[in-house]
Amino acid sequence: MCRPPSQPTGLSQRISLPDDEGMTTVAVAEPSALAIDLTSQAFKECPFPTLARMREAGPVIRVRFPLFGKVWMATTYEAVNDLLRDHHQFVQNPVTAGNPWMRALLRWLPRNLKPLATNMLLRDPPDHRRLRSLVDQAFQRHSVEALRPRLAVLADEALDRLESEAARSGGTVDLLTHFARPFPLAVICEMLGLPLEDRPKFTHWASRFSTASSFVGIFWGLFTGVRQMMRYVREEFRRQSRQPREGLFAALIQAEEAGDRLSEDELVAMVFLLLAAGHETTLHQITLSVLALLDHPEQLAELKRDWSLADSAAQELLRYISFAMVTKPRYAVSDTLFHGQSIRRGQMLFACLASANSDPSVFPDSERLDIHRHAQKHVAFGAGIHVCLGAKLARTEMEIALEHLFTRFPNLRLAVPRADLRYSARPGTRALLALPVRLE
Ligand code: HEM
Repeated sequence: MCRPPSQPTGLSQRISLPDDEGMTTVAVAEPSALAIDLTSQAFKECPFPTLARMREAGPVIRVRFPLFGKVWMATTYEAVNDLLRDHHQFVQNPVTAGNPWMRALLRWLPRNLKPLATNMLLRDPPDHRRLRSLVDQAFQRHSVEALRPRLAVLADEALDRLESEAARSGGTVDLLTHFARPFPLAVICEMLGLPLEDRPKFTHWASRFSTASSFVGIFWGLFTGVRQMMRYVREEFRRQSRQPREGLFAALIQAEEAGDRLSEDELVAMVFLLLAAGHETTLHQITLSVLALLDHPEQLAELKRDWSLADSAAQELLRYISFAMVTKPRYAVSDTLFHGQSIRRGQMLFACLASANSDPSVFPDSERLDIHRHAQKHVAFGAGIHVCLGAKLARTEMEIALEHLFTRFPNLRLAVPRADLRYSARPGTRALLALPVRLE
C-alpha cells in the first residue's frame, strides 16, 4: 500500500552537461537528471512519492527514460497541459523537428513495420486531422451511448467465461486474462468487424508484450507480437476488400477506395492502432481499478449500494491509477524556453500524466482515492489534439465492467497475498502481470 511522499530532494540545480542527443547547438546549462527508476516494482506499486519528488524538482525536469536516455519530462498539471496543447511548438514527428536519432530509427524499421510510423498518434496536422476525422464519429459520445446495451451483453459473456474458468481451476482465476482482456477486446473487434474466431490470436500476440516481466521479454515480445498483428491486419485488409464485413474496417476500406483520403499503409496503421490502443489500455485500467476498489472496501461498498456513482468512480479511478503514466514523446521544432528550461530543437519531451493527475494544486489530497471527487479535469487520456479517441468508450467499458463484475460476484476477493502482485517492467505504463481472484 502507498506511503506518504518523501521530502523534496532539491535536485533541480543547474549544471553544465555535454550534449547527449547529438544536436549541433552550443552547450547550455541543463539540470542533472533526477535519479528515479520509472520501471521498478516499488514505483509501479506506489508511484506517488516519486511523482511528488518529480514535481518538487520542477515543472519540467531531466530524467533518464529507458532506451531513450536523458529526456525532458513535464511534471505539473500546468506544464503537462502546456506541452500537449502546443502542437505547433511540440510535434509528434521527430523528422520535422530534426531529431537525428529518431530519424535513423524510423529508417531502420523493417519494411513490414514501416506503416506503424504513419499512425495518427505519430502524425502532425494536417495529416493528423485528415486521419482522425475518418474515425472520430464512431467514437463520439452519442455513438458510444448507443452501444451501451451491447457492451453490457459482451461484459456478461466475458463474465460467464470467467466463472467457468474459476470452476474448472478449483476457484482461483486470473481476472486479467479471463475478464479484463477479453471484454474490451470483444468490443473493439466488434466495432472493427473482425471475426470472432480470430480473437484468441490477438490475445496471444498482445499478451507477449503487455505482460512480459523483463525488459528483454518486453522488446522481443513487442517485436514479434507487433509483426504478427501487422501481418494479420494486412491479410484481413485483403479479405475485407473482397468480402466486406459490417464494421469500421470495411468502412475505412471504402473511404480508401473512394479517393485519396487514406493510403493502404495508413489504413493498416489505423486498424492496428485501434486494435492495440482499444484494448491494451482499457484492460489494465480495469484490472487496476478492481484492485484499487478491493484496497478501499468502504468505497467499494458504497458503489455496490449505488451504481449511479459509477461515472464519478471511473473518472476518479482514471486519475488515481493513470495506466498511461507517460505520453508518447513530443519534439521541439525550435529552441525555446519552456517553464524555465532551455529546450533545444529536436529534443524529446514527455508529459507525465500520472504526475499531473496527482498534482495537489489541482487535486487536493491527491494520493487518496475518493469516488466522490469531481475528477473530470484529469489528463489520464492526454490533452490537446491527440487526446484519446476512445476516452468515452473506455470510461463506459470501465463503468460496465465494474458494475457487472461486482454485482454478479459481490464477495470477489484476492486469491494471493497483496504483496505477491507483480507489475510489468514496461516504462511509461502501470500494468499488473496478473490479478488472481476468488469469485465466491
Ligand atoms: C482506459 C483506457 C485508455 C487510456 C488510459 C488511454 C490513454 C490514451 C492517451 C494518454 C492518449 C494520448 C497519448 C499521447 O498524447 O501521446 C491516447 C490516444 C489514443 N487512444 Fe487511448 N486510451 C484508452 C483507451 C482507448 C480506447 C478504448 C481506444 C479505442 C479505439 C483508444 C484509442 C486511442 C487513439 C486512436 C489515440 C490516438 C489519438 C490521436 O492521435 O489523435 N484509446 N489514449
